[in-house]
Amino acid sequence: MAPALRRMCCPSEEQYVESLFSSIASRYDLINSVLSLGLHKAWRRFAVSLARLSPGNSTLDVCCGTGDFALELAKAVGSTGTVIAIDFSEPMLEIARQKADRAGLSQIDFVKADACDLPFADDSFDCAVVGFGLRNIAEFGRAIAELSRVVKPGGRVISLEIFGIRTTWASAIWKLYFNVAGPWVARFLRGDPQAYTYLPRSVESFATPEEMARQFETQGLENVRWYKLACGAVCVHLGTKPLTKSAPPCVSSEKQDQQNFKGFERE
Ligand SMILES: C[S@@+](CC[C@H](N)C(=O)[O-])C[C@H]1O[C@@H](n2cnc3c(N)ncnc32)[C@H](O)[C@@H]1O
Repeated sequence: MAPALRRMCCPSEEQYVESLFSSIASRYDLINSVLSLGLHKAWRRFAVSLARLSPGNSTLDVCCGTGDFALELAKAVGSTGTVIAIDFSEPMLEIARQKADRAGLSQIDFVKADACDLPFADDSFDCAVVGFGLRNIAEFGRAIAELSRVVKPGGRVISLEIFGIRTTWASAIWKLYFNVAGPWVARFLRGDPQAYTYLPRSVESFATPEEMARQFETQGLENVRWYKLACGAVCVHLGTKPLTKSAPPCVSSEKQDQQNFKGFERE
C-alpha cells in the first residue's frame, strides 16, 4: 500500500500532534540535543548546504518547531534574503521567534500555518525544507506536494527525517535506545514522557527512505536522491522542481553535491 494511504488522516490526529508538540515546546531543544547526542545541528547544517543557497535567496522552513532550521537558512541567505518558517504550534513558534531575536536574524518571519495547506503562491521560494516534520503528518504526500508547489522551477525541496534502523542487528540497539531511553530521558529532563513514546511509534509506522523518495517523485520532483546519516537512522531527501515540463532534468549539480559531502553515504 502507498505510504501516504497507510495512516488515516483525521482532525483529531492533527490536534493530538499539535497539542503534543505544544506541551513539550519549552524542553524540545534540550531533549533533542540529548537524544541526538548533539548531532541534530550538524544534520541540519548538512541539509542546508545541499540547498546550495546564495545571499538574497528566499526560503521556506515547514514544521519549523523551535526554529533551528530557519536560523541555519537565514545564515545561508544573509540579511538580503528571506526566510519564512511555518508551524501549527504557537508555543513552538514563540520559542523560535525568541531565538531569532537573540541571534539578530530579523529576516525570518514565523507564521502559524498548516503544512498541508501552505498560504503561499505557486513558485514563491528558491528552496523549501522540512525537518523532522513529515513523519508527524498523516498525509505526508500532500505536504510534499505543497512544498513542491511553492518552490520555484529549478528550486530544491529537502527533507531531514528519522527513519530508524529496521533491518540490521543494530535495530535492537536502536529500539532499546528510542523505546526505553527516550521516555526515560524525557522524564528526567521534565519533558512529557508520553511525547517520547510517540516518537518511536511515529518512526515505526512511517515510510521507508525508498517510499519517501517515491513520494518525492510522485509529487513531481526530479533528480531525487537521499543521504544516510547516523548509520541510516536519519536521512536527508532531496528533489528538484522541473524547470518546465519539456526541459531536461536538472542533474548538473549532483556531482558537486557528492564532492562536497564525501563523508555521507548517498543512495
Ligand atoms: C519534531 S518537530 C521538528 C521541529 C524542527 N523542524 C526541527 O528541526 O527541530 C515537528 C514540528 O512539526 C510541527 N507540525 C506537525 N504537523 C504539522 C502540520 N500539519 N502543519 C504545521 N506544523 C506541523 C509540530 O508542531 C512540531 O513543531
